[in-house]
Amino acid sequence: MKEEYIDTLIVGAGVAGMNCALHLPAGMRALVVCKGGLRESDSFLAQGGICVLHDRGDEQSYFEDTMRAGHYENNPDTVRCMIRHSRETIEELIARGVRFEREANGELAYTREGAHSRPRIVFHADCTGKEISSHLLRAVQKLPNVILRPHTTMVDLLFDEAKTQCLGAIVRDNKTKELTAVHAGNTVLATGGVGGLFPHSTNFRILTGDGVGVALEHGIAVDHPEYVQFHPTTLYTQRRGRSFLISESVRGEGAQLINAAGERFVDELLPRDVVTAAIRREMRREGSRFVRLDLRTVAGGAQTLAHHFPGIVERCREEGYDVYSEPIPVVPAQHYFMGGVRSDLKGRTTMPHLYAVGETCCNGVHGKNRLASNSLLEALIFARRAADEIAKGEFAEGRAVIPEQIYDKHTDYARHLRVKKEVDLEHE
Ligand code: SIN
Repeated sequence: MKEEYIDTLIVGAGVAGMNCALHLPAGMRALVVCKGGLRESDSFLAQGGICVLHDRGDEQSYFEDTMRAGHYENNPDTVRCMIRHSRETIEELIARGVRFEREANGELAYTREGAHSRPRIVFHADCTGKEISSHLLRAVQKLPNVILRPHTTMVDLLFDEAKTQCLGAIVRDNKTKELTAVHAGNTVLATGGVGGLFPHSTNFRILTGDGVGVALEHGIAVDHPEYVQFHPTTLYTQRRGRSFLISESVRGEGAQLINAAGERFVDELLPRDVVTAAIRREMRREGSRFVRLDLRTVAGGAQTLAHHFPGIVERCREEGYDVYSEPIPVVPAQHYFMGGVRSDLKGRTTMPHLYAVGETCCNGVHGKNRLASNSLLEALIFARRAADEIAKGEFAEGRAVIPEQIYDKHTDYARHLRVKKEVDLEHE
């Protein structure tokens, strides 16, 4: 097996992995590997936007909205930390060139999604994730201390003999199949979500909870492997492949859910889990495979649809639906994973020198059900905090043991998804 030595190994190139790399000191060498291409992360797919504390008076209300959506199973300390750092995070993105929608007077424009008591989401049309991710990626590509290596899969972690610290990971080149033991002073898991394990998901298929699987294999604490979020509205289709999201901000701007009789059956802006359950109930009652979303009730009508949601309008058109003249068929699909590798306010896991950030981790911000548009924010903030911790320069020391049996089971985590069958029934 080839061997390589690096200060920090980051596994995953979504916004969490990228922001971690960006905040490492210039003198620290880092390697970022990711399973697919550099744009194959769910961060790129995020539509609706990114939350931010609207003003000082919004603090308690933002906190309460996040906690209520999470069924109060959130960690109040991580929630407060995220809210407190939200403004500076948005400002940092703007300084990197990220463009958010502005009002005529130049102020940031805010949209709304389910379970938010006020508009506090900044956005870039219906492709906020792409706007943020592509700027971060470009910034990382300019860093002389960071190597980006796409199409490279983590197949195991490395430890010392007594398994008291993480010493890197074994990675495989997807094309040549060659294995490399990457010895690292610190290792960061930023492997994203678990949607690839579900038949219907908004996630890229390559996202199979690899960080969580490897943590479970090695006795590193994982919290709430059953906390899987289903997004209420994805475009119903009989085609195979990734489910296309119809952003919650469409409902935030006034789109209505209706049944086959054209009647509303739920308050569209309740938390995601509640709306998803109501849609399932309605589908069961009707014996239908989808309900409908009427975009014609969006405030500002056709003009808002064309300006704020051009990607959604176009995708619906490609599927044969004209959102200006008819409701579209929608169905819930797996979307996000609130559980994950247990991590603290600094991204530290229960294994020294192993960090977990982004959707891979569970730091308690989201509780049992994530509040809409908190994911990019949470990933950015805690990835930066992990980088700040790594920057202190405490490296793992010792000799890594190359295991005889490499873990390498990329769907293994599925056995922990006890609710999987139960929750994905409508599609099967
Ligand atoms: C959406 O635009 O509905 C998704 C945003 C999110 O998952 O928070």
